[in-house]
Amino acid sequence: MDLLKGKKALIVGIANDHSIAWGIAQALKQAGAELAFSYAGESLERRVRPLAEQLGVSFVQQCDVSDDAQIATLFEKLGAEFGSFDILVHSVAYAKREDLSGRFIDSSRDGWRLAMDISAFSLVALTKAALPLLNPNANILTLSYYGAEKVVANYNVMGVAKAALEASVRYLAADLGPDGLRVNAISAGPIRTLSASGIGNFRRLHKAFTNANPMRRAITIEDVGNTALWLCSDLASGVTGEVVYVDGGFNVLGMSEESQA
Ligand SMILES: NC(=O)c1ccc[n+]([C@@H]2O[C@H](COP(=O)([O-])OP(=O)(O)OC[C@H]3O[C@@H](n4cnc5c(N)ncnc54)[C@H](O)[C@@H]3O)[C@@H](O)[C@H]2O)c1
Repeated sequence: MDLLKGKKALIVGIANDHSIAWGIAQALKQAGAELAFSYAGESLERRVRPLAEQLGVSFVQQCDVSDDAQIATLFEKLGAEFGSFDILVHSVAYAKREDLSGRFIDSSRDGWRLAMDISAFSLVALTKAALPLLNPNANILTLSYYGAEKVVANYNVMGVAKAALEASVRYLAADLGPDGLRVNAISAGPIRTLSASGIGNFRRLHKAFTNANPMRRAITIEDVGNTALWLCSDLASGVTGEVVYVDGGFNVLGMSEESQA
């Protein structure tokens, strides 16, 4: 498969080999793309570097997406060492642990601001900073979750941030569409990752999801990677501003037999 032969992608958000961004990186690489990675902070470097080596990635740069100076440095270095590119994957989210359990009404102003900044605004900031380096027909992809549209226990402030993220996808798609750029999101079912472990009772949510979704199985980072590949390839050339579900069909359910038991 060489759907992305000759294409270059920047993947933002690998923390370890459970990360959704890692599943996406593998799928894009298998399809022939050349990759560059950026990761959040020093403590992750020892996990990210070996993964980069595994896929033959030589550009690996630290970048805290809440810091404009670090974003500017990332793209300065990327321009010099990697050159112009075709795909930007934004697979980043953060909220304080205390804001991911209990009642939504107890969210703090500070926690709200932090979650919004890192989980939603960073897509806009990265996209704007990437523009001078993006090739014609480039693709931008981010990751969302069902908690953006429906209430999911404990997801709280992150649900609000994901709603803002999904709206940002639509506004960015409208801004950049005339220049041939596409912007989309994947709304993934729950997957056991580092970030997910911060959500209150995540194991229970994961189990309930697995039992209830029409496919009766867990969603994997490979499932998400394959859909990311489709969205970032010419096979999806007419698709922009969309939120595509990779959730085994969970979002189509109203009332199942099980929930009536
Ligand atoms: N795991 C799930 O169940 C699930 C479901 C749907 C959507 N998502 C979304 O997928 C994306 C990736 O999450 P994941 O589940 O792979 O977890 P993960 O922990 O592997 O990835 C989250 C990444 O965000 C990075 N990050 C956090 N703050 C940052 C900052 N200030 N600057 C730069 N990077 C920062 C972390 O370092 C990490 O690499 C997130 O947007 C998440 O909300 C996850």
